[in-house]
Amino acid sequence: MNSIKSQITKAPLDYSSLPFGYQKTDMNIRYVWRDGSWDKGTESTEEHLPLHIAATALHYGQAVFEGLKVYETPDGRAQTFRIEENAKRLQHSAEMLSMVAPPTELFVEAVHRAVRANRRFIPPHGTGAALYVRPLLIGTGANIGVAPSSEFTFIVMVTPVGPYFKQGFSPTKLVIEDELERAAPHGVGTAKAGGNYAAGMRATVKARQNGFGEALYLDTTKQYIDELGAANFFGITEDKRYITPNSPSVLRSITNMSLRTLAADMGYTVEHRQVHVDELHTFVETGACGTAAVITPVESITWKGEEIIYLRDGKPGPHCTALYQRLVDIQNGVVPDPYGWTQEVSLGQKL
Ligand code: PLP
Ligand code: COI
Repeated sequence: MNSIKSQITKAPLDYSSLPFGYQKTDMNIRYVWRDGSWDKGTESTEEHLPLHIAATALHYGQAVFEGLKVYETPDGRAQTFRIEENAKRLQHSAEMLSMVAPPTELFVEAVHRAVRANRRFIPPHGTGAALYVRPLLIGTGANIGVAPSSEFTFIVMVTPVGPYFKQGFSPTKLVIEDELERAAPHGVGTAKAGGNYAAGMRATVKARQNGFGEALYLDTTKQYIDELGAANFFGITEDKRYITPNSPSVLRSITNMSLRTLAADMGYTVEHRQVHVDELHTFVETGACGTAAVITPVESITWKGEEIIYLRDGKPGPHCTALYQRLVDIQNGVVPDPYGWTQEVSLGQKL
């Protein structure tokens, strides 16, 4: 066989049981924006950053990021999934936080460079793992007055990962967090800003201490469902409707966007609208979706002491299973991609 697959010696890791965690790889790429333009980017083996002590990222939270995965196909190619959407969302996040984002072309080039430099860490097809790509944009200029940075650093790091929720494609229990809100309607909830995650950590820690997988947030009126700390939310009704919150304070999930298309093509009626918390009783299945979460089926949702149970036998339901399979088959190149969502990453020559 003459494919790249036969030439690359994989890093010796137990790919089938990887956690969703940081694993050192060979290289990261760093680009700097200064005086109105981006430099050509530097490949670095260093895991640390030399950072000015007055950098706006540290003091004023000018820090936004992205998350996408690279999948190995059955014939050993590597592919991204809707990478331009990640580039666009980073631009949106940057705009919300008065930052300068890389143009789409530079974003795509940076991801391809980082993946190529770390190709021996791309998890083998069929292990359920993927190469997680984490583009990060931070204000690195020094400011003590509150003002946008005059310098930005764009870093792309990668790390091989397994599923975000412990057991992967198996049910997890959620609890509705109604004491604190993840994001305000006209705030930065639609931005993938580091501060949103810091603000949600209290709820996640509390949920886990109480035996739940994650917290589910309501909007500020406490009537409508927003999302989870690191994933969007959807519900399925008996009459095959895929219903997911449209809210001005949730992150616009690329996975959810894709599932809306897939669900429609699989015969579901798709409703992207406000979802009242009382509707939780009308769903036969619910799920969390995102790059890291993929689809994580929800076993039950607890609110005000009441547990709404969706799955009684510990197994994912038929709707989540069908949607999950369709999505991961396209991402992993097991079936043709009729949507043009996947893009091959050239892996170059033998290492
Ligand atoms: N919502 C939040 C808060 C997230 O952190 C994520 C993860 O990226 C998502 C939703 C899912 O978005 P995507 O499907 O683009 O990964
Ligand atoms: C992702 O799904 O890519 C995310 O960014 C979630 C992450 C915060 C764990």
